Amino acid sequence: MSELNNIALRILENGKGILAADESTGTMTKRLDAVKVPSTSENRLLFRETLFSSSSMMDYIGGVILYDETIKQKSSKKNSIPELISEMGSLPGIKVDTGAKVLANSPNEKITEGLDGLRERLKVYNKLGAKFTKWRGIYNISKEYPSKLSLQSNAHALARYSALVQECNMVPIVEPEVLMDGEHSAKECYEKTSEVIKKCFEELILHKIDLKGVILKPNMILAGNKSKNKISGEEVANLTLECLKNSVPQEVPGIAFLSGGQSEIEATENLNLINKLNNTSFIISYSFGRALQQSALKFWSQDINNVSGTQKVFNHRAKMNTLAAQGKWSKELEN
Ligand code: G3H
Repeated sequence: MSELNNIALRILENGKGILAADESTGTMTKRLDAVKVPSTSENRLLFRETLFSSSSMMDYIGGVILYDETIKQKSSKKNSIPELISEMGSLPGIKVDTGAKVLANSPNEKITEGLDGLRERLKVYNKLGAKFTKWRGIYNISKEYPSKLSLQSNAHALARYSALVQECNMVPIVEPEVLMDGEHSAKECYEKTSEVIKKCFEELILHKIDLKGVILKPNMILAGNKSKNKISGEEVANLTLECLKNSVPQEVPGIAFLSGGQSEIEATENLNLINKLNNTSFIISYSFGRALQQSALKFWSQDINNVSGTQKVFNHRAKMNTLAAQGKWSKELEN
């Protein structure tokens, strides 16, 4: 087994998933503003350290995606944040893209930036303890989008990123996110997501990526958030599995979904159904941001020094998602 494959499997073993705590300072400020906590670097660290020192790190969270600010911070016990995560039994990772900007000549679409100087930044992150990385490309759905230009350029960037990451002995999380925003049907989401993922792997293969050392982070197949034709959880699961079977090469060891704006319970319920019906060879788990942190953030904002109370809320959510990653979750367990 290659070292990269080993890392990917370790992150996702036994129903473990990924905590996406890689919100940029801008996004984290929006999250903190919403719960009326000042977005200072101390408060951002306090919330994150509360999660990273919870027992979930040993039991449910196989990897944590950090943001540049956090990977360089020190915990209250004065060890580095990657050290804290490793000591707690999880693996530290890092978001390495620098955000999505308007795609030239297709102004309604975005292209993710961050390739310039990436090889050097990766060396620094690796030295700081990162074992894996993340890069997110985003696509919106409408009749004409994603355009060929967006499909091609985002896939190309994801492949070049993956090559540099593997060269530095880390596992790339490849995240092509087809956004939930819009009135589109689940069928359209299925078709466009399949096209997006296929194009990504075409480019990854062209760039000679070791697919056994990659984790795919896709969206689930859902109707748009403004669609009047929502589909059932079973339909979400069936369409999502169909899409993965048709577009992801067998060598890829694991798939970890983003939550993408679903509520906590919705994301858990859909993940559970996908795993119940999973007839693929892929390990299927989670790499949630909002759907893992929302309740914990709300609870924490009432008293930012209540570490154990906040951890209890977070541990519950992480446990529910790990059960869902094994197809063992049920609604009753939420109480
Ligand atoms: O890139 C997106 C995040 O890592 C996942 O966040 O689960 O809130 O969509 P989300």
